[in-house]
Amino acid sequence: MWRDIQLLEFKSITDAKKKLKTISKRWNYFGDKLNRRGALIAEGLTSKKWGSIEFPTSLPALPAFTLLDTGRLAYSLKVQRPTSSGEISFKENKKIPPSRAYLKLWEAFSILGKWPQAGESVIELGASPGSWSWALAELGATVLSVDRSPLHENLSRYPNIRFQKGDAFSLEPQKSDWLVSDVICFPGKLLEYVTHWLASGQCQKFICTLKFTGTPDPAIVDRFRRLPHSRVLHLFHNKNEVTWICDASVVSR
Ligand SMILES: C[S@@+](CC[C@H](N)C(=O)[O-])C[C@H]1O[C@@H](n2cnc3c(N)ncnc32)[C@H](O)[C@@H]1O
Repeated sequence: MWRDIQLLEFKSITDAKKKLKTISKRWNYFGDKLNRRGALIAEGLTSKKWGSIEFPTSLPALPAFTLLDTGRLAYSLKVQRPTSSGEISFKENKKIPPSRAYLKLWEAFSILGKWPQAGESVIELGASPGSWSWALAELGATVLSVDRSPLHENLSRYPNIRFQKGDAFSLEPQKSDWLVSDVICFPGKLLEYVTHWLASGQCQKFICTLKFTGTPDPAIVDRFRRLPHSRVLHLFHNKNEVTWICDASVVSR
């Protein structure tokens, strides 16, 4: 999503480059029409080729431009995604994690520009079979994984994962650097639960998926969006769900 589209007229490729450079040093080029000409303008302005990304990597959402015709381009300084098409592809680990669900967690961390550091604590709700647990443990975090079902046996090699069997929502707020949730439940139930956590002040960084059955409910998405320091995104790796990202640590430090 491009939020503040503006038009720029140019006489030549060099002129377009010069004008774009005065607005921002780095751009994402969205190739749609006149791709050859656009690519020539983009040369030297776009610093990254988006192939498979090695996590952890911070993915800032750069300003983006696209050509409208030979002498006009449209650009936006406020874009919602780090790549101009919204697609993000990571180098995957196909051996240990029991599913590919960790890709949406990686994507959320990359967009936030933060992820759990070695030694930080993470409470993870709805952890089974354990691909998020794997991703968190690989970062060196200390993970408390809660689920009604057990973790996959591949996770037993990680001493920094502690598994707790039971109902995620019976866990009371406690000191933790991160709370992440991939629990399958009604978004309203999750909202009530995270509101309780936010009020407790015990944790400042949250990443939770809001899952929908059938048509998504925009009203509940809006309530998550209105929580302090929050955004709700439909990530490239989300299915019939969206991701709530909340980072209260920046302002309260
Ligand atoms: C989509 S799966 C999580 C997948 C996980 N993120 C991964 O990467 O492997 C959702 C999980 O939520 C769990 N779940 C649903 N309701 C729960 C509850 N009230 N308490 C604990 N776990 C719950 C289910 O058992 C299921 O394992």
